[in-house]
Amino acid sequence: MDMRKTLDQAFRTAFGAAPEVMTRAPGRLEILGNHTDYNQGTVLSVAVDRATFVAAAPSGSTQCRVVDGVNRSECSFDVAALGAPNKGDWANYIKGLVVELEKRGIRVPGFHAVLGSTVPMSAGMSSSAALEMSMLLALLRLARRELDWREQAKIGQACENLYVGAKTGLLDQFSSLKGEAGHLVYSDFRSLAVRTVPLPAGTALVVANSMVKHNLTNEYNERREACEQAVRVLQRRTPAIAALRDVSLAQLEAARADLDPVVYRRALHVVGEITRVEAGVSALQAGEIGRFGELMFESQHSSTHYFENSTAELDTLVACGRSLPGAIGARLSGGGFGGITVHLVQAAQAAAYASALGQLYRERTGLVSDIMICTAADGALVY
Ligand code: GLA
Repeated sequence: MDMRKTLDQAFRTAFGAAPEVMTRAPGRLEILGNHTDYNQGTVLSVAVDRATFVAAAPSGSTQCRVVDGVNRSECSFDVAALGAPNKGDWANYIKGLVVELEKRGIRVPGFHAVLGSTVPMSAGMSSSAALEMSMLLALLRLARRELDWREQAKIGQACENLYVGAKTGLLDQFSSLKGEAGHLVYSDFRSLAVRTVPLPAGTALVVANSMVKHNLTNEYNERREACEQAVRVLQRRTPAIAALRDVSLAQLEAARADLDPVVYRRALHVVGEITRVEAGVSALQAGEIGRFGELMFESQHSSTHYFENSTAELDTLVACGRSLPGAIGARLSGGGFGGITVHLVQAAQAAAYASALGQLYRERTGLVSDIMICTAADGALVY
C-alpha cells in the first residue's frame, strides 16, 4: 500500500476522523560541495525518492499528539506550554517549528498528526530536514498561512541550530524543498539562489549505508568553528573576505604560514569543494560525465585527508565502488563521521554494482551495508 493510504488509515484509527492535510518532503543526497553551505559556498545535491509523509488535522484544543506510524512511537505536548527541549527527543523538531512560526507571528493551533518516513534515520540522507519540511507544510496549512520557501528552509535550520544543537547550514532544507525529478539542485548559499541541472542520462545513484551511525553534533560544530577561524586569520591580509567562499586556492596557499595546520586543512577542503562544484557544473554541461565522477573521488580524498570527516568504513565503500564495472564517481554524502556514501554509476550496471558493493564491503569489514538505488525526485509538497 502506498504511504499516503497507510497514513490516512493510521490517522483515522488514531484520531477517529479524516486528516485535513497531507504532505510529503524528501530526503536528500549531497553530490558535490561538502560543508560549503555555511561557508556561503555552492552545492550540487538531489532530492530522493525517499520521503517523510505527514497527515494532520486540528485537535480542537491546544493539545497535540503526533504518532510515528512507521517507528511506532509518539509524543504529546501543549502548543501553549512547550517547555524546554529534551535532549535527543524527536519531538524537538516539531516543537521547534511551532516556536519558530510563533516568532514570525504565526500561531499554530493544537493538532493531531501521523507521520511515516522512508528516509533512513541518522544515515546522512537528511531524515530530520524531511521531517521538518513535511511537518512545516502541514502546520502552515492548519494555521492557514503561507511563507516564502527560503523562510521555510530557515525555520528548519533554526530547529537544528536552536533545538537540536547542530549548527548546520541550509543545504538539507533547500534540497528537500527545491528538488526536481531527474535533476540535481545547484544552490548558492550566498545569494540563496537555486537552479536545477539535469542528471546525465543513463546514470543511476547507488547509496550505501556504512552502518556506522552518524552522530555529528560535536564534530560538525568543531569543523564549522575551524572554518570561521580560518576566515578571521585570512581577513588580516584581505579584509574584504567575509567567508571561505571569497577565498581562492592561491590566496589560501599564500596565507598558509599564518594558519594553524589543522585549520589550514579544513579551509583547503572547503575552498577545494567550492572549486569542484563549479568544475562539476561545467563538466555536466559539457557532457563530461567521467570528469564529474573524478571530482566526486577528489572530494572523498579531501574529506579523508583534509576535513577528516570520513571514516575507515566510508573510505572502504568508496574504494570498493571504484573498482567495480559501471563506476563513475563516489564520495561520502552529508556531514560525514559515518552514514552513507553516494555512487554515481552507469544505470545499466546499477543493480550488479549494488550487489557487488555489498559483497565486497562485507568481505572487508564484516558489516552488512544497507544499499539502495535512488532516483532524483520532486521537492516537498502539500497533496
Ligand atoms: C549536514 C548539514 C548541512 C551541510 C552538510 C555538509 O547535512 O545539515 O547543512 O553542512 O552536513 O555539507
